[in-house]
Amino acid sequence: HDAVDVIRAKRDGGAIPEDALRWMVDAYTRGYVSDAQMSAFTMAVLLNGMERDEIRVMTDAMIASGERMSFAGLGKPTVDKHSTGGVGDKITLPLAPLVASFGVAVPQLSGRGLGHTGGTLDKLESIPGWRAALSNDELFAQLQGVGAVICAAGSGLAPADKKLYALRDVTGTVEAIPLIASSIMSKKIAEGTDSLVLDVKFGSGAFMRDIDRARELARTMVALGTDSGVSTTALLTDMNAPLGLAIGNANEVRESVEVLAGAGPTDVVELTVALAREMLALAGRPDADVEKALTDGRAMDAWRAMIRAQDGDPDAALPSPKETHVVTAPEDGHVARLDALSFGIAAWRLGAGRARAQDPVIHAAGIDLHAKPGDVVRKGQPLFTLLADDAARFERALAAVDGAWEISPHAPATHPIVRERIT
Ligand code: URA
Repeated sequence: HDAVDVIRAKRDGGAIPEDALRWMVDAYTRGYVSDAQMSAFTMAVLLNGMERDEIRVMTDAMIASGERMSFAGLGKPTVDKHSTGGVGDKITLPLAPLVASFGVAVPQLSGRGLGHTGGTLDKLESIPGWRAALSNDELFAQLQGVGAVICAAGSGLAPADKKLYALRDVTGTVEAIPLIASSIMSKKIAEGTDSLVLDVKFGSGAFMRDIDRARELARTMVALGTDSGVSTTALLTDMNAPLGLAIGNANEVRESVEVLAGAGPTDVVELTVALAREMLALAGRPDADVEKALTDGRAMDAWRAMIRAQDGDPDAALPSPKETHVVTAPEDGHVARLDALSFGIAAWRLGAGRARAQDPVIHAAGIDLHAKPGDVVRKGQPLFTLLADDAARFERALAAVDGAWEISPHAPATHPIVRERIT
């Protein structure tokens, strides 16, 4: 095979034959195809797309570049969830123990945050003692015992994707649906889960701004999972406003614990319950009483066991910020808008997120919202509180949310958070 022939074929809108596509991915991973050639190829894919079969082959080639895990010996079904990322998206934290409380194994291999979307591992690392890195034996034992594991994805899964994603990041080719779908699904399929629920977000704080693109991505990933033997469904969910009232790390853990105690913000509970139902249906438990497990303490028990199994202390105090800054409502009215992206950027500037992969995050930093779109507020009432370790960060965070929220005399239209289900 020849890389230039493969690039030309995709440039001219053709489909790449299976053996050529497998060769291209393998040769790139090994360094025989250059970054320049691969970036020309990914740009051609971005412009001309890929057929369903090409996406399957591409995904399979990336899986073949690394290890493939198997949970076949567990003796219970495994089900995982993947979110395309949003602002205040802590759903994995209450969801994994909730689903595991029904005797299903949840191997939630997660990542760290970069930019304005937070990372699940960063949030959990606010808990004193908790550790993200588990060996494969520890992972297996915890799935067997507790049932729920949230840990760092090993670097052995789909190394081709790691190299390719870094290249796409600097060549303007992240946004190609076939490449996003194969990137996400190669890691999930290599992980060895029996089934998978995708939370595909749309809106200002999401990777896909509009619902039509989010739907296309969801359909592509569901087809890919199905073609690869992983039962996959997707929910399209609204990410125009932050999820819940907490944006950050430690405060998101606190909010997750509230949900596990049978309380918590309505939207977080609604989405957690919807995703748990999807996951349990795929795992053969369509009648599971998910709400009851949140109120009777079963989900909380699973959470505590999950945190302890990874050396965390579920009763320890979480870090709190040294400095706070409260923003109040300038007039009476309804909160009409609270833009997810702007609040995500503000939380990031406060130190809750990182700009470079090697930077630390500040666990106590972030934003606590006191009202959400649709809520009625009175003049002078707190709208949100900025949390930081250094008051010098407030100015740039305030600039990020300038114009990002609105108080109106009229109640805004409200929408359910789960907009569509894709199977
Ligand atoms: N997340 C991924 O893992 N890969 C992409 O391509 C985009 C988002």
